[in-house]
Amino acid sequence: MPNTPMKAVIPAAGLGTRFLPATKAMPKEMLPVVDKPAIQYVVEEATQAGIDDILIIIGRNKNNLSNHFDSVPELEDNLRNKGDEDKLAKVQASSELADIHFVRQGEPKGLGHAVLRAKAHVGSSSFVVMLGDDLIDERDPLLTTMIAEHERTGATVVALMEVDPEHIHMYGAAAVEETGTDGIVRVTGLVEKPSKEDAPSNLAVIGRYVLTPSVFEILARTEPGKGGEIQLTDALQELAADPDGPGVHGVVFSGRRYDTGDRVDYIKAIVQLAADRDDLGPELRPWFKEFAAKL
Ligand code: G1P
Repeated sequence: MPNTPMKAVIPAAGLGTRFLPATKAMPKEMLPVVDKPAIQYVVEEATQAGIDDILIIIGRNKNNLSNHFDSVPELEDNLRNKGDEDKLAKVQASSELADIHFVRQGEPKGLGHAVLRAKAHVGSSSFVVMLGDDLIDERDPLLTTMIAEHERTGATVVALMEVDPEHIHMYGAAAVEETGTDGIVRVTGLVEKPSKEDAPSNLAVIGRYVLTPSVFEILARTEPGKGGEIQLTDALQELAADPDGPGVHGVVFSGRRYDTGDRVDYIKAIVQLAADRDDLGPELRPWFKEFAAKL
């Protein structure tokens, strides 16, 4: 647990075009992963790391998100009257999880721009950014390790994961050197979505960051980069290259990560999570085997 609880920022203002038409009137972060919206897993992960103040950066379709984390008296009364305590607990869980705030991004000008919208809420403390496309298994506490590394060194901390070099163009890629501590590297450079040829390594930045408030001043003057968007990666590259600052460290993650960012990965995430669950797995696992044998 961190000494002073940090705030977490969850950008959820993307257009979600890969999931149209499901995301026409609903943010992609609300897509169900088994029976919970993706963003609820992320909020639960934050609370497990001791964070209970969460700012969600929203775009259009704000209502779905804020309603999900609000109470629903008529539904709760209905379940209470029926004596359905199990479902009542499920409905109440998301509204009791954390202290959740919302701010609008306005125009979708990129992840860096979204993070900059958190400045007034976060103030002058270090904070966490969590991207809803990456779900980290609750059995593999990545965020707690990252916060501890930040508290030990004062550095900005990113989560890194080895990916197939063919896929590095979908991520921020890191140039790194050893620190002497297992699983922790010093990041010497970062590049947003490089080609396989230009990538400094196959270590991809996955969607968890512990940032210092100095990032806001950098983001405010960061020019649009890859894709014409203001990139968080570009601001972090500046911090990594600053010889006078605490720099950027990477926690190399080798645990269970579920990507919900595109349709195939999203389906894989649901299959893996459902197969692992005690309530669904026993029925599903034999069916998956039977199904796979017929393919
Ligand atoms: C964002 C970041 C990228 C990072 C990725 C992790 O990209 O810009 O550096 O590697 O998240 O999921 P996006 O997936 O939003 O395009």
